[in-house]
Amino acid sequence: MLPRIAVIGAGLIGLSTAVCISETIPRCSVTIISDEFTPNTTSDVAAGMLIPHTYPGELNFCLACSCKVQTFDYLFAINNSSEALSNCQEVFHISIPQTGINRNDYDIVVNCTGIGSRELIGDLKIYPVRGQVLKVHAPWLNHFIRDPDGLSYIYPGIHNVTLGETREKDSWNLSPDPNISKDIFDKCCALEPSLQKAQDIKVRVGLRPARLAVRLQKEILVQGEKKLPVVHNYGHGSGGFSMHWGTAKEAARLVGECIATLQDPLPKAKL
Ligand SMILES: Cc1cc2nc3c(=O)[nH]c(=O)nc-3n(C[C@H](O)[C@H](O)[C@H](O)COP(=O)(O)OP(=O)(O)OC[C@H]3O[C@@H](n4cnc5c(N)ncnc54)[C@H](O)[C@@H]3O)c2cc1C
Ligand SMILES: *[C@@H]1O[C@H](CO)[C@@H](O)[C@H](O)[C@H]1NC(C)=O
Ligand SMILES: *[C@@H]1O[C@H](CO)[C@@H](O)[C@H](O)[C@H]1NC(C)=O
Ligand SMILES: *[C@@H]1O[C@H](CO)[C@@H](O)[C@H](O)[C@H]1NC(C)=O
Ligand SMILES: *[C@@H]1O[C@H](CO)[C@@H](O)[C@H](O)[C@H]1NC(C)=O
Ligand SMILES: *[C@@H]1O[C@H](CO)[C@@H](O)[C@H](O)[C@H]1NC(C)=O
Ligand SMILES: *[C@@H]1O[C@H](CO)[C@@H](O)[C@H](O)[C@H]1NC(C)=O
Repeated sequence: MLPRIAVIGAGLIGLSTAVCISETIPRCSVTIISDEFTPNTTSDVAAGMLIPHTYPGELNFCLACSCKVQTFDYLFAINNSSEALSNCQEVFHISIPQTGINRNDYDIVVNCTGIGSRELIGDLKIYPVRGQVLKVHAPWLNHFIRDPDGLSYIYPGIHNVTLGETREKDSWNLSPDPNISKDIFDKCCALEPSLQKAQDIKVRVGLRPARLAVRLQKEILVQGEKKLPVVHNYGHGSGGFSMHWGTAKEAARLVGECIATLQDPLPKAKL
């Protein structure tokens, strides 16, 4: 029977991990399970810049791979190829948990739950760094501007322009703060006066899943007779976009190792 893999989390990390698993392990079924989907994840708030540096308190680095280098190479290759916008043909099962997932339905679980990992997995090393941005309609802007302080920026995307940002460690507050919005808007208008004409201004708040380093490892959960291999991939902090493909590749490799163990359940017999 095909290995049944559940990926928990539908942010950038869960989705890219699901894609990478289905590409590297062709014979498996992948189900994405999440309580929120786009446009309601932290990943939807981000501007999506590739940031080569790290932030204080975050290594932004996964010990098992050169995640940023792999991600940058991958994205540059997509940018150079003609598939830039047509690379979304994978088919996944998608489900929304009602009462948690049934362990018997899956052979392997991959946890990509971002800041939700603090509660779900009980990992107290993960903490939020709150970020507030504005998403505005200003289609005449086609270049980015970044203030040297790194906090004020204007990043045009395909659909709208992201104006940022704040970094508030240990704040769980998902409500927009109108004073911060005004501050961001004023600073960005100082950088680019034409933003005064921006329309459809929306405020978005996200909690960066910060951790000293990304957690990228296997764990075997034991419950009675049943063993469930789990692969963790969370804690990308301020650099989820910058690292996503590298960490997805490493997570997929770990899933492959788990599958090998499933198919060889009695390693002791070899002794
Ligand atoms: C303002 C701001 C700007 C940013 N800018 C950049 C940038 O320019 N470049 C960059 O590289 N990074 C940036 N980041 C960081 C980036 O957004 C994050 O690193 C990335 O989004 C993390 O992705 P994720 O998939 O781990 O988390 P999320 O996007 O939060 O996804 C987690 C998923 O898990 C689900 N989930 C959580 N708990 C449970 C549960 N118990 N059960 C079921 N499902 C659950 C959620 O519903 C969600 O679908 C920015 C972040 C912010 C806030
Ligand atoms: C996003 O959240 C809003 C507000 O809670 C909700 O109405 C909407 O259905 C959600 N979208 C998705 C795709 O879950
Ligand atoms: C992409 O193209 C640029 C120049 O257009 C080139 O310098 C670079 O090496 C290419 N990268 C990849 C991964 O093909
Ligand atoms: C992305 O593609 C464009 C168009 O082919 C090219 O001009 C640009 O150099 C590429 N960027 C990178 C970083 O490779
Ligand atoms: C990973 O997610 C599953 C499904 O929600 C959960 O049962 C499990 O406890 C999580 N893993 C760990 C190590 O806690
Ligand atoms: C910004 O773009 C996203 C899609 O990427 C869209 O869902 C959202 O409504 C847009 N917001 C504004 C203010 O235009
Ligand atoms: C916003 O600023 C005003 C004036 O400085 C202050 O009175 C108010 O409490 C602030 N609001 C928030 C939500 O911080």
